[in-house]
Amino acid sequence: MLNRPRQAVGLDIGTSRVRCVIGEPAEGGKMNIVGMGHAESKGLRSGIVTTTKAVVESISKAVEEAERVSGLEVEMATVNLSGEHLQGESKSGVVAVAGAGREISEDDVERAIESASAMQLPAGWEIVDRLPQEFIIDGQDGITEPIGMRGSRLEALVHVVSSPSAASQNIIKAVHKAGLEIEQMILEPLAASTGTLTDDDTEYGCALVNMGSEITSMMIFGRGAVQHTAVFPFGGMQFTKDIATGLRVSISDAEQIKRATGCVAGFLLSEEERKEVIEITPVGRSETRELSMEILCDILQPRAVELLQYIAQEVANSGQQISSGVILTGGSAAIRGMVEVAEQVFDAPTRVGYPRTDILGGLVDGLENPEWSVAVGLALTSMQSRMGSPADTGRSTGRKVAEWFENIRGKFK
Ligand SMILES: Nc1ncnc2c1ncn2[C@@H]1O[C@H](COP(=O)(O)OP(=O)(O)OP(=O)(O)O)[C@@H](O)[C@H]1O
Ligand SMILES: [Mg+2]
Repeated sequence: MLNRPRQAVGLDIGTSRVRCVIGEPAEGGKMNIVGMGHAESKGLRSGIVTTTKAVVESISKAVEEAERVSGLEVEMATVNLSGEHLQGESKSGVVAVAGAGREISEDDVERAIESASAMQLPAGWEIVDRLPQEFIIDGQDGITEPIGMRGSRLEALVHVVSSPSAASQNIIKAVHKAGLEIEQMILEPLAASTGTLTDDDTEYGCALVNMGSEITSMMIFGRGAVQHTAVFPFGGMQFTKDIATGLRVSISDAEQIKRATGCVAGFLLSEEERKEVIEITPVGRSETRELSMEILCDILQPRAVELLQYIAQEVANSGQQISSGVILTGGSAAIRGMVEVAEQVFDAPTRVGYPRTDILGGLVDGLENPEWSVAVGLALTSMQSRMGSPADTGRSTGRKVAEWFENIRGKFK
């Protein structure tokens, strides 16, 4: 076991890019960014390792860049856990509290959480996180810190997330081969939430939607805790492919067109913009063709509506209230018009989830982009758990439970 260094390192291994953020604790529970690096990602499909060697190289490049910027050597990182098979389920478990005065101990709480998460899993699956929502003592609900309270019946409500074990094992292998230890693995949407959400968002309820390249993950929060998890097998790559097919251009040209001029909301285009012309070079041709912004938008808008409707349906099916609305993050939240279309589809206030610059200092330039939310969230999680204090960096009521839970999580593994 390595000594924990002062720095917190977040390593976001995504399907399109690997990102590394190095942070140092600063006053008031804040984090100073001292280094960051990124590299094109190879060897992953929908967040799952398909070629270890390529993933190792991408990790090494991103980490080396962050090391160069910071002048530090990275030995250990907090890493994202992704994959389209992640499944969340909210469960409850009850235990009797015994002993003098019937004061609830850490052991009782552990037993209650264990009882809530006793479940039959398919072969090759594992529980990857147990996120306490609240505790109920002798019928009194809404309790977040049960230890030391009196009672005879303790019930735990827990959001249990499971995944095929191969997903984490292959990431662990790649990170180790890149010469790094893993401090913790954190569910990607949970890391994105730590990187972007305020206490009010998680308390009053919101849907955090992290739209990456090939995967979109969502967590619904309420009363300071995770209430629902869902993963969708699509992301920004869908738009790139639509452009490539619709305009007969290469994937790399399509990606460039999407980023430079793509817009998924026709109603945002002014009259002049509608007629603005883009030059494209179809595959196998040497001469260019002209295309109006309006046509590009006609290709992208129906897809945006379709994907967002899937997500909105999941929110509706969850039955959760999202008074704080929808927070869209991940690289694909940056496509022009995405928030505006989402606002209509969800019929709820919607905003882009940027890394929380209110609690970040140092080298924040360049990180003010939703594609950095996960890496920043991973570094923040690492910093919070080593500080052991409920810094103002995310959850409110759930925060303390979650932090305390960090410490006992290992015992269940
Ligand atoms: N300015 C932009 N305009 C349009 N799309 C963008 C922009 N910036 C990034 N993207 C898209 O965001 C996606 C990458 O997002 P992100 O870095 O969150 O994904 P990832 O973590 O690599 O992938 P995943 O989470 O799916 O494994 C790509 O599809 C990219 O085209
Ligand atoms: Mg991602």
